[in-house]
Amino acid sequence: CGYSWNPSTTHIIMKDDYLWFEGLPFLVLGYSYEVIKEVCAQFVIKDEDIVMVSYPKSGSHWLIEILCLIHSKGDTKWIRSVPIWERAPWLEEGPWLLASHLPFHLFPKSFFTSKAKVIYIMRNPKDVLVSGYYYWTITNFSKKPESLKQYFKWFFQGYSEVPYGSWFEHIRGWMSMRHSKNVLLLSYEELQKDPRSTIEKICQFLGKKLNPEELDSVLKNSSFQVMKQNKMSNLEILSEILATKHFLITRKGICGDWKNHFTVAQAEAFDKVYQEKMAGFPKELFPWEQN
Ligand code: A3P
Repeated sequence: CGYSWNPSTTHIIMKDDYLWFEGLPFLVLGYSYEVIKEVCAQFVIKDEDIVMVSYPKSGSHWLIEILCLIHSKGDTKWIRSVPIWERAPWLEEGPWLLASHLPFHLFPKSFFTSKAKVIYIMRNPKDVLVSGYYYWTITNFSKKPESLKQYFKWFFQGYSEVPYGSWFEHIRGWMSMRHSKNVLLLSYEELQKDPRSTIEKICQFLGKKLNPEELDSVLKNSSFQVMKQNKMSNLEILSEILATKHFLITRKGICGDWKNHFTVAQAEAFDKVYQEKMAGFPKELFPWEQN
């Protein structure tokens, strides 16, 4: 996909395959400086809105699928006929919202005076790194890494090299909302470990009641295997629309794939930076720290 650069827009700075806004690299797909600026400053989040928020590659699409299925009480008609990005349009792209990768400090201010609900999904950053490496290598949405080694470096430079900037800043920002009753923090790891209880927790947060059959359907249809087969959810049709190399959002869908990719030295270097950047946060908040 090419840049949709409007020469009359003096604020746009295209550098290294990103659209830059307030020092953060955004994907070139579908965003413009004006829209992002307007979203941050003026977008009105309504009381009844539910917003899925995540750092990219943390299980965003999985959570969206679960939320859509909870909404339709397990009925699969909607998730089988409407592309996932239409079911939960990206806040950063304009008119509607249900999904966002925005860091906390850029999130629309109106949220903080509304009764809207945010569900934030996080994931072991080592798996986020590996997942991001594969995804940005195949898609044309961002700067392409040439090797995992290079992407590893970029991940720590955060602000300047990877979409939406630093994972550490993203998580630290949103963690500051963890005591708000309008914010539910979830992890990819807990969804993997006990999807049924986690989905029940989501339902409780949203004030939704599902009968056992409906809950079974949400579970089954949001599973990795079923999502992988659903063209409307796995982004297969997006690669067709964009005529890019074939890619699926559903790559491997496991916890701990980093162990198949990191060298011992990389894992140690990662842990060192992690300890520094996440100092002060209780370990209990993060399932990947509880071994
Ligand atoms: P991997 O690349 O490690 O396989 P996002 O939607 O935020 O971009 O996250 C993508 C990651 O979520 C990918 O991880 C993908 O496989 C995983 N994923 C998507 N749907 C899933 C599901 N139903 N169950 C488990 N993992 C899922």
